[in-house]
Amino acid sequence: MADHENGTEIDITDLILDEHGDFRRRFVQLWDLRHSGDTGAVAAAWQPLADLLEVHARAEEEIFYPVLLKRGSEEAAEETNDAVGDHNELRDAIRAACRFETGSDPWWRAVLECRKANDEHLAEEERDVIPDFREHSDQALRSRLGTRWVAFHAEHRAARGISGEDIDPGEYIDQNS
Ligand SMILES: [Fe+2]
Ligand SMILES: [Fe+2]
Repeated sequence: MADHENGTEIDITDLILDEHGDFRRRFVQLWDLRHSGDTGAVAAAWQPLADLLEVHARAEEEIFYPVLLKRGSEEAAEETNDAVGDHNELRDAIRAACRFETGSDPWWRAVLECRKANDEHLAEEERDVIPDFREHSDQALRSRLGTRWVAFHAEHRAARGISGEDIDPGEYIDQNS
C-alpha cells in the first residue's frame, strides 16, 4: 500500500505523479491486448483508463491549477493555458474513440492519438508545472490539496458527475487568477 493510502503522505504533487505512472502502466497493459481479438478485455482495460484521464484532468483544473495561477512563477498562466488546452485535446480524443467500435482499427488509431497527447502532456507537467508548483508551495499546503484530491476522486469514481466538456483556457485563467 502506498503511503498516501494510509494517510501518512498526501502531497498533491506526489498523488499527481503517481497517477501519471498509473496512466502509463494502463496504456502498456491495454497495448498488450492489441492482437488479442478479445473486445471485452479491451473495453474492460480502456474504460477505467478513459474515466481516470477525465477525473485527473478535472481534478487538476478544480484543485491544482487555480493555486498554481495564484502562487506560481510568471510562467504559470502560460503553463495553465497549455495544460487546459492539452486536457481539451485528451477529452476530444476520448470522445473520438467512442465513435468507433471498441477494438476496431479506427478505434485503436483514436486511442493511439489519445496516448500520444497524454504522453506529451504528462512530460510537460512533470518538467515545467510540478517543479514550479513545488517551488512556490510548502508541504502543509500540498497536503491540504492532497486531501481534496483524494476526496474529489472518491466523489467522482468512474468519472461520475464529470461532464467531459472542454474548457476555454482564456476564460478559465481569468476566473481562477
Ligand atoms: Fe496530470
Ligand atoms: Fe494535466
